[in-house]
Order: sequence, then C-alpha cells, then structure tokens
Amino acid sequence: MNIINLTGDELSPDGLKEQFAMDVLTGLSSSPKGISPKYFYNDHGSELFQQITESEDYYLTNLEYEILKQHGHSMAKKLKETTDIVDLIELGAGDGRKTTLLVNALNEAGVKINYFPIDISKEAMEQMKEFLTETDQFNITGIVAEYFHGLNYLRDNSTNPKILLFLGSNIGNFNRGQAAGFMRRAWRTLNANDWLLLGADLKKDIDILHKAYNDSNGITRRFNLNLLSRINEDLGGNFDLSTFDHYGSYNPLLGAMESFLISKKNQSIYIKELEKEFHFKAFEPIHMEYSTKYLEDELLELGKTSGFTVEETYYDPKKWYSNFLFKVIKH
Ligand code: AVJ
Repeated sequence: MNIINLTGDELSPDGLKEQFAMDVLTGLSSSPKGISPKYFYNDHGSELFQQITESEDYYLTNLEYEILKQHGHSMAKKLKETTDIVDLIELGAGDGRKTTLLVNALNEAGVKINYFPIDISKEAMEQMKEFLTETDQFNITGIVAEYFHGLNYLRDNSTNPKILLFLGSNIGNFNRGQAAGFMRRAWRTLNANDWLLLGADLKKDIDILHKAYNDSNGITRRFNLNLLSRINEDLGGNFDLSTFDHYGSYNPLLGAMESFLISKKNQSIYIKELEKEFHFKAFEPIHMEYSTKYLEDELLELGKTSGFTVEETYYDPKKWYSNFLFKVIKH
C-alpha cells in the first residue's frame, strides 16, 4: 500500500491540536454551547464507535453491510457494463468490512480496482491496511488529507472512471443545507458518468431511533462523554465526567437525532491550553451531534439538485436504511 500525504502544517499533530483548541474555544464560548462531532474520533472514541456499530440497538452499520452483501454483485455487473477499471474512492478509512464486500463483487465481475481511502488520520489508514489484502486486481493508495483536498488531487491525477463511497450515514452529521453543499462539492470533483454510492439512514419510528442513540449498554453515553475526556487530556481541561449526562432526542422539525451533554449542576471548567474558564449553568446543554434522517424523496431531491441522476436504490427489507447509487450528469 502506498500512502500519499497531502497534509501541510495544518494537519501536523501540532496543527490538529491547535484546530481542536480553537474549535473548543469557539464552541464553548457560543450560546448554546456546542462541539463538532468530528472530534469524537480519537483512539478511544474510534474504539467506542466500533463498539456502537456492533451493538444490537445501533442497526445502521449492520443493515448497510447486509444491503451491500445482497446487492453488491448486481451493482458490480452494472458498473462492468461501462468500465473494466475503476478508482474506488472512500471518504473515511473505516474498518474495511463493507469495502471488502464491494471489492470482491467488483473483482468477481472482472473490474480492476484502484482503491483510494481518504482520511486525515494516518493511523486510521494504517490500521485499515490490516483488514484489506492487495492483489494484482486490487491496489490501495491511502490519501492522508481533508476529504475535498484528496478528491481534488484525484480529479487532477487520474482519468479512470470513479466511484465515490460515502457510507455509514456519515452524511447525517450535516444539516440539510450542508448536505447539499457536500453533494455539489463532490459533483465538482467527479467527471460525467462517475458514480457516488451514498449510505443514508431513513426516517422511521422514533422509538427505534431513540434506542439506536441511547443504547442499552450505555456505549453511546461513553462515546459522547469521551469528548470531554479528550479535552481534559489534550487541552488540559478539568471536566468531571460524572457531572454531565448524555441526552439523545429526536427533533421532528429537523428530522434529526440530536445529542447533548447536559451539566447536572452550576459549575466552572478551566481549560489550561485556552487559559480560560467556562461557566455552565445547571441543566445547560452542550450540543454534540446531528444525525439527520432522510425520506426517499428527500434523497432523490438532494441528488437531483446537486447534478446527479439515480442509477439504483437499495434498501434492507424493512426500509430502515438506504444506499443510493447516483450518477454524475455534466453537459
Ligand atoms: C458515524 C455519524 C453515522 O450519526 O449515526 C453513532 C455517529 N453517534 N452513535 C451516526 C454516532 C452516535 C454516527 N455516524
């Protein structure tokens, strides 16, 4: 596996810590307070997320896996109709389980694959290597970069047909406006007739959503609280985790699960790196995450307004989760 490192100073360890510090400073100075979910994923956070995906209550990962297992082969046959070689680009390195399904299906259909995971974490990239084996029909080039920096690089450096994977309902972390911005930016980095395979969680009975984001083993709770531990460790904070509660609820106006950490009491937190004290009133929330849920129609519309047509839609039998295969239209 090759690794291409596109990072400058901003993604060096010091640069990333400085970004984290500034985002925490802005987020905890705002009203309401909030912290970006992208900071969940330090080593321990990634481990906790992995545990969430294996829990009974969090259905998303398993359903997507089943969908790709069920439909990977027909998808591969469809792609084979137009090309024998493809650049398979994935945003976020992941654990390779879902990627392996697609890789095998494409290889079996006779499509050769250049796989390009894009991730800002070199460590995540190197871990993924353990799960995937290269062959002469499947080679891996890890791109260490911000998503769009990596995508622009590939647009400028490869002329192969491309499939962009954005799986796991990661699009859910965006609000609807941001999701449309993401889709259009993706469109800009792709050529006519390239594909985007998007995984998106669907709107459903609210009880099911509640369970998924308030799992019975309390892993989601620990996942959320881990971000306060990260502030303590990386930025010299003095959060006492036992004074915050995890609260996950569905906002029907946004069509999104939202998660919060709620201060159980009136208290002040000092963060050494920021040379600043932050005050929390009793019951004051920190907004942690949106997990936006979609209707089929909303996904069709999102694709259409962003310059894609829908090639194929895939669902699990209960229609809880979706994978849409979009195709890029350019005139
Ligand atoms: C990785 C953003 C798709 O929103 O479902 C899981 C993260 N948060 N449980 C999601 C998450 C709480 C997850 N995404």
